[in-house]
Amino acid sequence: MGQAKALFRPPERTSCCAFADRFLSTMNVLITGGGGFLGRKLCAALLKRGALTDVEGQLHPIARIRLFDVVPTATADPRVESLIGDIANTDDVRVALGEDTDSVFHLAAVVSGEAERNFDLGMRVNVDGTRVLLEACRALGRSKGYSPKVIFTSSLAVFGGPLPDPVPDEWPLMPQSSYGAQKAIGELLLNDMSRKGFIDGRALRLPTICVRPGRPNKAASSFLSSIIREPLSGLEAICPVEPSLRVWLLSPRRAIENLILAHELPATAFIHTRSINVPGLSVRVGEMVQALRDVAGDDVANCVHFQRDEAIERIVASWPAAFTATFGRALGMQADPDFASIVRAYLEDECR
Ligand SMILES: NC(=O)c1ccc[n+]([C@@H]2O[C@H](COP(=O)([O-])OP(=O)(O)OC[C@H]3O[C@@H](n4cnc5c(N)ncnc54)[C@H](O)[C@@H]3O)[C@@H](O)[C@H]2O)c1
Repeated sequence: MGQAKALFRPPERTSCCAFADRFLSTMNVLITGGGGFLGRKLCAALLKRGALTDVEGQLHPIARIRLFDVVPTATADPRVESLIGDIANTDDVRVALGEDTDSVFHLAAVVSGEAERNFDLGMRVNVDGTRVLLEACRALGRSKGYSPKVIFTSSLAVFGGPLPDPVPDEWPLMPQSSYGAQKAIGELLLNDMSRKGFIDGRALRLPTICVRPGRPNKAASSFLSSIIREPLSGLEAICPVEPSLRVWLLSPRRAIENLILAHELPATAFIHTRSINVPGLSVRVGEMVQALRDVAGDDVANCVHFQRDEAIERIVASWPAAFTATFGRALGMQADPDFASIVRAYLEDECR
């Protein structure tokens, strides 16, 4: 980290006074997809933390967090604004960015199962939306005199095809789903626009985040949370894959910590790429159920029933089950130690 000269251009500067004034003040943050699962958790974590580092490496209090989403987000904190809009709509995105946003966490997306079912929607939100946002950030950077930081949530789904185990950082992207292809396109855009100095981007290839609270979503990986969450609520859950299937997981706590860490890193930490394989936990689905048994007992774990769904198994089995995540670890990113601790964290955070 920071051990060699950055090949990326440092953020663009102007000599205008506004630049200097701005750096004496506060941080304004935009979270796209701010009404979603990770967006809301990220917002809560940023509010608790209270400050972020600017492109100069100076820590400033967070003055405003804007949550941009197609759905409204209730909030009691005066620092938080909820803004409804469409990420693929240039006007909506310009309004969301305003003239004073310093940092963007780009989480808005159509998730894997839905992007596979509805190609056009996935392209519009995941590809067109990302381009609209990055172009708007570029324009904002021009008017402010420095490039905004953009943290993009990519996915392990950018990998596929025949894969080594574990997958090294240098492995080529061969997505086997529309979602994976759309995330890969987003990463390329973010890398090139960072290279040009238009933005200061960082793309995190997140493992599957587990355990997700609430209701099942349209991600192909949704069952990985359902088989823990539903039994802990006394409900039956179907597991659509074989117990031997291995998956790459991360808890919501660690995901949020790693997103914030990615924001805080200096641009010089990124040499050849802005894309990071985030460290995770490689675990078999059968071991997940065993950890549930260890933490919550037989009655709870016996609520999980295995019933194969080939369409879901095909998508999830095409994803890598382990990474070296060498670069991510060197940057200081962390995984969970074991799956039982992920179950316990879910109980602490969501079931009190
Ligand atoms: N949760 C995971 O396991 C996981 C794993 C890897 C990557 N990711 C990525 O992390 C990000 C957040 O994931 P999440 O689990 O919180 O998903 P989520 O579905 O809970 O949140 C995504 C949000 O994006 C919003 N959105 C969808 N279309 C939009 C549009 N046109 N304009 C504005 N907002 C729109 C949705 O309303 C939703 O609130 C996504 O980019 C996802 O692809 C998640």
